[in-house]
Amino acid sequence: MENRFILPADTDFKLGEALQAFSDLVATLDQEGTILEVRSNDPSLQEASTVLLNKRLHEIIPSPRANALACELLATPSIEKSTSFEFSLFASGNLRWFEARLLPVRPSQFILTAREITKYKRAEVQYQQQLQRLSALRSIDLAIASGLDLDLLLSMLLDQVTTLMQVDAAAILLYERESNLLKFASGKGFRTNVLQHTRLKIGEGYSGRVALERKMIHIPNLAKHGTGFDRSPLFSNEDFVTYYGVPLIAKGRVLGVLEIFHRSRLQPDAEWLDFLNIIAGQAAIAIDSASMFKELQKSNIELSMAYNDTIEGWSRTLDLRDRETKGHTRRVTDLTVRLATLLGVNDSELLHIRRGAILHDIGKVAIPDHIIFKPGPLTPEEWEIMRQHPKIAVDLLSPINYLAPALEIPHYHHEKWDGSGYPEQLAGESIPFSARLFALADVFDALTSDRPYRRAWSKYDAIEYIKKQAGKHFDPRIVPEFLKLIHENGR
Ligand code: C2E
Ligand code: SIN
Ligand code: SIN
Ligand code: FE
Ligand code: FE
Repeated sequence: MENRFILPADTDFKLGEALQAFSDLVATLDQEGTILEVRSNDPSLQEASTVLLNKRLHEIIPSPRANALACELLATPSIEKSTSFEFSLFASGNLRWFEARLLPVRPSQFILTAREITKYKRAEVQYQQQLQRLSALRSIDLAIASGLDLDLLLSMLLDQVTTLMQVDAAAILLYERESNLLKFASGKGFRTNVLQHTRLKIGEGYSGRVALERKMIHIPNLAKHGTGFDRSPLFSNEDFVTYYGVPLIAKGRVLGVLEIFHRSRLQPDAEWLDFLNIIAGQAAIAIDSASMFKELQKSNIELSMAYNDTIEGWSRTLDLRDRETKGHTRRVTDLTVRLATLLGVNDSELLHIRRGAILHDIGKVAIPDHIIFKPGPLTPEEWEIMRQHPKIAVDLLSPINYLAPALEIPHYHHEKWDGSGYPEQLAGESIPFSARLFALADVFDALTSDRPYRRAWSKYDAIEYIKKQAGKHFDPRIVPEFLKLIHENGR
C-alpha cells in the first residue's frame, strides 16, 4: 500500500510550486474526476485554465480507451496506474492541444500535469494533409501518363479537389478555340445542374475574366459582390458564398478554368492556395495531353490515308505506263501473300509484305521508256540503268517512315540465293525472307507473261525453270512450298 501515492498523506502539497517547473498547466482533481483548481504560468493559457475549471475529466478526454483508464485510476488509485492522454480545448479563438498525465497524490486528490503540444499537433495534421495531397497529385500524374479518358480524368481531379481542399463544389470549364467559348466540362458537388450549360465568352463573367486576365480570381462573398452568374436564375439555390477561379494554362495557352465554390466563408492558408495552383497545373497538363492524344490520333488517320493514297497513286502511275504491269502487280502480290500465309507469316508482317509487293517495281518510274519497252535484249549500258530500279525505289520510299518495313521487297527482290543478284549481291539468308518469297512469285509471273522482249513461256517451262534455279536464284527450301501453291492454282 505504501506505493499507492506520490506523497505521504500528511505532506503539505503545494500545487504549482513543484510541478509548474516542468508543465505548462497543472490541475488538482477530486476522486470524482472534477477539476478543482488549475494553474499555469503561461498567460496565454489563462483562458484555458478557466475553461477546464469544474469540468469532469471524462468531458475533456476524447479517447474512450484513455477515458476508461482514467476512470479506473480514479476509482482505485495507484501510482502504477498513472495514465496519460491527449486532449484539446478552445482558448483565445484557437484550438490548443495538450499531452496530459493523471497521477494519484492522496486518496482523494489527483493531479493532472499537461504540456502543450499544439505546435506538434498542427505539424502532424499538416504533414498528413500534405501526404494526402501528394498522393493525390501522384495518382493524377499516373492517370495522365496512362492516357486516361479526359472526362474520367477531370471528374477524378474534381473529386480530389473537393475532398482534399474541403470545399463544397468545383467545376472545370474548357476553352474551345473554334467557338472562342468557355464550356462546362465537369462538375462536382452541385445541387442543381445550373452550370452544366455554361458557355461564356472570354472576358465574360468571373471565369471569362480569369481566362482573359490569366489570373486567379477570389470572390470572398458572392452575395455582396453580385454573383456574376446572373444568367442562371437557379444559381441562388446553390447558396454559394465563396468563389475561386483559376486559369488552366499549359504551354502558354489558356485551356480552361477551374472553379471552386463553397457555401460558407473560406479562410485558406498559403498551403491551400499552393495546392490549388498545383492541381490547376495538373488539370492543365491533363487537358493538354488528352487533346494532343486526340490530335495525334486524328493526324495518324489522316497520314495513313495520305500514304495509302500515295501508294495507290504511284502504282497507278506505273500501271498506266504499262498495261501488262497492272495484272502482274496484282498477281505477284496475291501469290506472295498466299505463300507468306502458307509459311506462317503473321498479319502485321503480311501488311508490310503486301505493300512491298505492290511497290516492288516503283523504281521503274525513273527508267526511260526506250529501255522498258525495248523489244529485244538490253545492252550493257541499258542493263546498268535497269538495275538501278531497286535503289530508286528505296530513294523514293525511305523518306516515308510508315513504309520503312515495306521496303525489303522493293530493295531486294532481284537478289539471288547464290549471291549473283543485285543491287547488294546478298546471298542466302542475308536476303530478307519477304524478298526471297517475292522473287519466286515475280519470276514465275514474268516468265508466264508476254514481255516486249519475248512471248510468254508455258507454265510447264516456267515450273521446270524454277526447279532448276532452286539453290541458285531461289531459296531451295521455299521452292517446294511455292510449287505446291502453283499446282493448287492450276486445279
Ligand atoms: P521482268 O520482265 O518483270 O522480269 C522479272 C524477272 O523475271 C527478271 O529479273 C528475271 O529474273 C526473270 N525473267 C523475266 N524474263 C525472263 C526471261 O526471259 N528469262 C529468264 N531466265 N528470266 C526472266 P531481271 O532479269 O533482273 O530483269 C528485271 C527487269 O529488266 C525485267 O522485269 C524487265 O523489265 C527488264 N528486262 C530484263 N531482260 C530484258 C530484255 O531482254 N529486254 C528488255 N527490254 N527488258 C528486259
Ligand atoms: C514487272 O514487270 O513489273 C516486274 C519486273 C521486276 O520485278 O523487275
Ligand atoms: C533500306 O534498306 O533502305 C530499308 C530496308 C530494306 O530495304 O529492306
Ligand atoms: Fe524488279
Ligand atoms: Fe516484277
